[in-house]
Amino acid sequence: MQQKLNEIRELAIKAINDSKDLKKLDEVRVSILGKKGELTKVLRGMKDLTNEERPVIGKLANEVRSKIENELEKVKEIISKKQREIQLAKEVIDVTLPGKKKELGYRHPMTIVLDDIKDIFIGMGYSIAEGPEIENAYYNFDALNIPEEHPAKDEQDTFYINEEMMLRTSTSPVQVHVMENQKPPIRIIAPGRVFRSDEVDATHSPVFHQIEGLVIDKGITMGDLKGALEVFIKELYGETVEVKFRPHFFPFTEPSAEVDVSCVICGGKGHVNKETCKVCKGTGWIEILGCGMVHPNVLEMSGIDSTVYSGFAFGMGLERITMLRYGIKDLRMFYENDIRFLKQF
Ligand code: DAH
Repeated sequence: MQQKLNEIRELAIKAINDSKDLKKLDEVRVSILGKKGELTKVLRGMKDLTNEERPVIGKLANEVRSKIENELEKVKEIISKKQREIQLAKEVIDVTLPGKKKELGYRHPMTIVLDDIKDIFIGMGYSIAEGPEIENAYYNFDALNIPEEHPAKDEQDTFYINEEMMLRTSTSPVQVHVMENQKPPIRIIAPGRVFRSDEVDATHSPVFHQIEGLVIDKGITMGDLKGALEVFIKELYGETVEVKFRPHFFPFTEPSAEVDVSCVICGGKGHVNKETCKVCKGTGWIEILGCGMVHPNVLEMSGIDSTVYSGFAFGMGLERITMLRYGIKDLRMFYENDIRFLKQF
């Protein structure tokens, strides 16, 4: 029995030291000290020993057991330490490496231009107004002096929601809301989304953006209109740009005009490198907005005495103004959200 115990000890110590990981080590422990383990089996046989033998073998068995237990403990420590080291080596952080860069968002080119436009008008004492995107016929047409049978109603191919309600076809209805709710003097611009059932192409979109302007006070003249818009356009496109007022017709203004600027692409020459300029089609001019003196009917319908007050209004397309500013040829790029396009501004 003595020999058996010594054998178990030798084999156990070898098996323990051969264990490569904690799982294997535990298997070794169970195979020796477990319920059916080698040493346990021997200890069970102790009852068959003589009274003389029992204390001697008992002492040896205890020594063997504690020797094995110590060895298990020692090797467990060693394996744990090694595993910790491997883990740490794997998780090592090089604090000198550059960090991961967070991509910052970009302002949309139309937002950049709109912010500039707002700044220019705020600098001239205007405030920003807003109106609903869904209007009824009164605000979208009638209050703007667009009569029942006027071709503008068909021209502006309208998205109707039902017989009475529609998506606004321009930002001009905001004029009416402002006049109903504010007393003159009025000086506002109203940027916003507008809707027309146009086919999508390089210069058309069924959803686009306009910026409306309205100034009403005593003694406002066409001179004020010209001055305000010339200052605005030169702030936006630079001092050298030329501005031309061309007579036109709008139902809500009288007289009315369209404003052209000297072509920002060819500098008004009409050609680039002897080729006809594609943007102004060789004319040297580009139309950028409509304007005029607010029609007395429009003032009166919104409760403003046209014998006391006069005013001017204007409206422009934000897509077009942005395209000219950056030389963008296709308006669809504004809505596609291609990051390669957006990050250029
Ligand atoms: N509402 C016009 C349009 O959508 C633009 C416009 C022209 C607005 C002249 C005005 C204006 O306020 O006076 O085409």
